[in-house]
Amino acid sequence: PAATDYQAEDAALSQATVATNHTGYTGTGFVDYVNVTGSSIEWTVSAATAGASALTLRYANGTTINRPMDISVNGNVVANDLAFGGTGSWDTWQTATVNADLAAGSNKIRATATTDNGGPNVDRLSV
Ligand code: GCU
Ligand code: CA
Repeated sequence: PAATDYQAEDAALSQATVATNHTGYTGTGFVDYVNVTGSSIEWTVSAATAGASALTLRYANGTTINRPMDISVNGNVVANDLAFGGTGSWDTWQTATVNADLAAGSNKIRATATTDNGGPNVDRLSV
């Protein structure tokens, strides 16, 4: 089936805020992580059946420094320190994908910054 988009600005944010000060985002904005370890976005995603899904994050990182994040599904880390490298500018968006098993029904997918630089700017999750 086609992927469904889950906007970051509609997710549950911890030490992160909705912003619009760069171009190229989808929806009504993007999420700007506070530059601290542990800042996070958590999406609630519904899956019709249990099984493997591609989780694709759209992000921008205007620095040249990696902004790794742990990606978890229902509290289990499925990608440890997933790399979100520089994209060239804060207006230039790229995607990073991880494959993970989802449960049937509701799932909590969280992206947590693992360095003091915080996460990259995040536009959306597609599942
Ligand atoms: C700049 C940029 C923000 C970004 C921040 C960062 O302030 O405008 O969008 O989130 O850098 O380094 O995290
Ligand atoms: Ca930030």
